Amino acid sequence: MSPAPNLLPMPAHVAIIMDGNGRWARQRGLPRLEGHRRGVESVRTVTHAARALGIRMLTLYAFSVENWRRPEEEVGGLMALLETFLALEKAGMIRDQVRLRAIGRIDALPPRARSALLDTIAATAHCTGHTLVLALNYGARTEVLDAARAFAAGVAAGTARLEDADTWEGFARHLYTHDLPDPDLVIRTSGETRLSNFLLVQSAYAEFVFSPVLWPEFGRAELESAVNDYRRRERRYGLTGEQVSHPGPGISSQTEPAPAII
Ligand code: FPP
Repeated sequence: MSPAPNLLPMPAHVAIIMDGNGRWARQRGLPRLEGHRRGVESVRTVTHAARALGIRMLTLYAFSVENWRRPEEEVGGLMALLETFLALEKAGMIRDQVRLRAIGRIDALPPRARSALLDTIAATAHCTGHTLVLALNYGARTEVLDAARAFAAGVAAGTARLEDADTWEGFARHLYTHDLPDPDLVIRTSGETRLSNFLLVQSAYAEFVFSPVLWPEFGRAELESAVNDYRRRERRYGLTGEQVSHPGPGISSQTEPAPAII
């Protein structure tokens, strides 16, 4: 059966705020880390489901700049889970042509987690089928600060020009995501309706789905439901619905924001 003509195409880039591991564990009288362990199972399920659905890029918010303030045992446990995940998934990622990327202050990760991450990124750099982006030690405001600093350093060194910042595209070259498309769809699980410092500038035109399901129970059916919800929407990028359905000259397509629209 061919899709209904008024459905949006599959989102090319889905970004997920994986929330609710702690509550999932607490509801079962388990330690928080057990919730994170089950959360890693959902990471596996959802990355495979996304590939099967034809989603080319998936970004997962795995550790924020604020998460360092959690109990030491939880932080250490999360870093250990990251290492194990990478060790177990590396071969499968190469086989399935999944390129791994990371965004965030990666240099500040513990040495073992950082080296496992850099090793898997290098080993999958040639993969062209799908991209999995892990946001690690990530914060959107920190990203903007890092970009501003990189831009200023570039201007001082003569490798960037002040006029580059006349356009968003010019400045965005200094973001962690400089070579990644903006997310089409941002999902947050667990019923919370916050962005928590995640991809704030990249989500300027994203659609949002807030799912009540806790991350350890978020699977293929929940991902499909979020994607179906997204596909029934109309993305206007500041235009009128009429302009979107009957684009005239100079009006770009549904899937790309027209430049300089507020
Ligand atoms: C939020 O749940 C989740 C996190 C802070 C960490 C997410 C990490 C994983 C899913 C596992 C590690 C990821 C990879 C890629 C190996 P929460 O603990 O804030 O839940 P709560 O709000 O119910 O307490």
